[in-house]
Amino acid sequence: MRVHADAGPWLLDTEGRWRRDTEVTGPGMEAPDGTGGRLPRSPTVSCRHGFVQPLRQRRRKVRQALGRRNRAGTGAAVISMSTLGLIGSGHIGSTLARLGVAAGLEVVLSNSRGPETLADLVAELGPRARAATPAEAAAAGDWVVVTVPLKNYRQVPVAPLAGKVVLDTNNYYPERDGQIAELDAEETTTSELLQRHLPDAKVVKAFNNIFFAHLAALARPSGAVDRSALPIAGDDPEAKAAATRLIDLLGYDAVDAGPLGDSWRFQRDTPAYVVPYAKNPQGRGISVDDPGVSADAATVRAALAAAQRG
Ligand SMILES: NC(=O)c1ccc[n+]([C@@H]2O[C@H](COP(=O)([O-])OP(=O)(O)OC[C@H]3O[C@@H](n4cnc5c(N)ncnc54)[C@H](OP(=O)(O)O)[C@@H]3O)[C@@H](O)[C@H]2O)c1
Repeated sequence: MRVHADAGPWLLDTEGRWRRDTEVTGPGMEAPDGTGGRLPRSPTVSCRHGFVQPLRQRRRKVRQALGRRNRAGTGAAVISMSTLGLIGSGHIGSTLARLGVAAGLEVVLSNSRGPETLADLVAELGPRARAATPAEAAAAGDWVVVTVPLKNYRQVPVAPLAGKVVLDTNNYYPERDGQIAELDAEETTTSELLQRHLPDAKVVKAFNNIFFAHLAALARPSGAVDRSALPIAGDDPEAKAAATRLIDLLGYDAVDAGPLGDSWRFQRDTPAYVVPYAKNPQGRGISVDDPGVSADAATVRAALAAAQRG
């Protein structure tokens, strides 16, 4: 079943209750500028070429909408002792940071250029957020999300992630990451590469199959009729349970797609990749101005089952 996102995003209020953000008008990410109109039509992009132009405009709209959400939603004290560490603070990392702060988590962000370059984002996120080095973010997190371009996965710090639940958002784009023979030959998956790099961490694949703007727009409280589901894959049941708790806090149900070796079922160019969350899918791709539509667990399971390799 698909339900159209017909109201603004949800937020946690100071009592920890979810409610609609009435400051954001229209479906999903439409018209966060309050004009009541739709965002201008932008060129269509296919998944094969990544999420490209006009992303600058799209990012601004997402920041505006989530900024309102954060201002209205701060104060939730649901799980204030839990910390989300982020290695990578770009499109996905900053979106997860905003959702994490809105859910009452402490958030530690990091990137490759140094904490000082994240000052504006930290200021926007408020007192629950701080910037640090990747090693510090890794050490601080109860969950740590690795969300860097795949080509840089070997730069992720190893020692501070020992024993930790590490959520991996990475996708393989050879035009960005270079050719990786094992992936081209379908002998492994991106998350298994990260798991090999982090032998003592518990890697769970998550958040890789949804466009960052849809990740922001489709978050809903537990039990909402239009809540979406996200697939996860991992080899450690406890780590998958921990990942499921995080995903729930951030506004999504989780669907277990199996071990890391099965994570190809929601990698790029599969039916579960970005398209289930698009209101107007463009084949296997989406338009960057697509407002998003919820995809429940049954929809995600069906897409996972339809995946083919080779
Ligand atoms: N964009 C999406 O909608 C989307 C959706 C699902 C999955 N993904 C996947 O998720 C991953 C991240 O995507 P994104 O779009 O968020 O990328 P992005 O906007 O380019 O951001 C990448 C982030 O990673 C940081 N980074 C790069 N190398 C690093 C390193 N060695 N150590 C620490 N941080 C490092 C960058 O920091 P600096 O800027 O300082 O270099 C930046 O903050 C990619 O694998 C992508 O394919 C993306």
